[in-house]
Parts: sequence; C-alpha cells; structure tokens
Amino acid sequence: MALQLGDIAPDFTQDSTEGSLNFYTWAGDSWVVLFSHPKDFTPVCTTELGLVSKLKPEFEKRGVKVIGLSVDPADSHQGWAKDIEETQGAALNFPLIADHDRKVSDLYGMIHPNASDTLTVRSVFVLDPQKKVRLTLTYPASTGRNFDELLRVIDSLQLTDKHKVATPGNWKHGEDVIIVTSVTNEQAKELFPAGWVEHKPYLRTVKQPG
Ligand code: BEZ
Repeated sequence: MALQLGDIAPDFTQDSTEGSLNFYTWAGDSWVVLFSHPKDFTPVCTTELGLVSKLKPEFEKRGVKVIGLSVDPADSHQGWAKDIEETQGAALNFPLIADHDRKVSDLYGMIHPNASDTLTVRSVFVLDPQKKVRLTLTYPASTGRNFDELLRVIDSLQLTDKHKVATPGNWKHGEDVIIVTSVTNEQAKELFPAGWVEHKPYLRTVKQPG
C-alpha cells in the first residue's frame, strides 16, 4: 500500500551522485524532502533540479535536507548534472539517488503503472525528524512542481507542531493563523494573551505566534 501521512518512511541504501547513501544516516535528525524525477536528461526535471539547487538555502534555514531520485544509474546522473549547471545556472548541490533497479521507487510507490510502468511520477515526501511522513504530493510527468509551495507547507508544519494553531488556505509565513478548535476560550486566554478575533465560535484567528 502507498505510504500515507503518519507512516514511518522506510530506510534504504542506494547509489547516488554522492556515492552509496544510507537514507536514515544521511537524513540524521533533519526534516527531509524526497522527490522523484521520471528520467535523466528530460526538460522539466532539469528545470526542477536547478530550481531546488537555488532554493537550497531556504530549505536549510528551515532545517530541511533535500534529496532527489531518478531511475537511472549514477554515471548518467553525473553527466546530467553538467547540463543542469550549464542550462539552469546552478550546480546540483544535493544528492540525486540513482535508482537503477527501482528499489526505492517501488518501496515508496513512486511508479504508477497506469501512468507509466517504467518511469516514476513526480512524487514528493516531506518527512519530519522522526521520519514520519507529513506531506505527500504526486504530480504528472508533464507538470513541474511548485517548490515555493513546499516551503510554505513546511513553514505551516513546523509552526503547527509548536503552537496550538492551524493555517488557513493560501496562508504564508507571517500571516494570521487559526486557533485549533480543541483549545477552549479559557485556554486561549493563556496561550494568546494579546487576544484573537472570533469570527464564529469555531473560527478564531490570531497573529502568528513565535
Ligand atoms: C520532463 O522532465 O520533461 C519529462 C519527463 C518525462 C516525461 C515527460 C516530461
């Protein structure tokens, strides 16, 4: 069965652009974004890998390590990395798993046979430091992903792990958030002494804590 939210992401050891890589050892106690690419030397993937290389400092600021995967061998990845640097103006600065035998793709359900039985779809897994799956996304091969959205979700996950809040639709870091319904108004007075706005008893908004 496909990995679901709350599951523990499985460990693996596989080739990568940085040599043999044990996933849990590499991840340590960081948050992780693991994302798959259908194939080396393909245009959309080339743009995505350049983009994530440029965004790496944003992921690092949030304590997140990024790792890509494509079902081609490491020597192919090395050749592709030169093209990524040349065309995207950014060198690949994170590991790309060389999943030549599809061990990891199968383990993580990245191949959707009714879409393609040879290529992975564009899967994304966000894992917390306990290796728990906190977000899954699946995009078709023809659509490049929005990595700003991933950063936005990570901001929400990290904020809502710390405070008894949830984030509204299209929320961005710094905007007002929602007090979770399990918090009574009595408790809210302690947690949010500066006050909140009660739109409905179940919809109370407050300045972003922290
Ligand atoms: C791409 O990355 O451009 C791509 C890969 C596989 C199928 C279609 C597009």
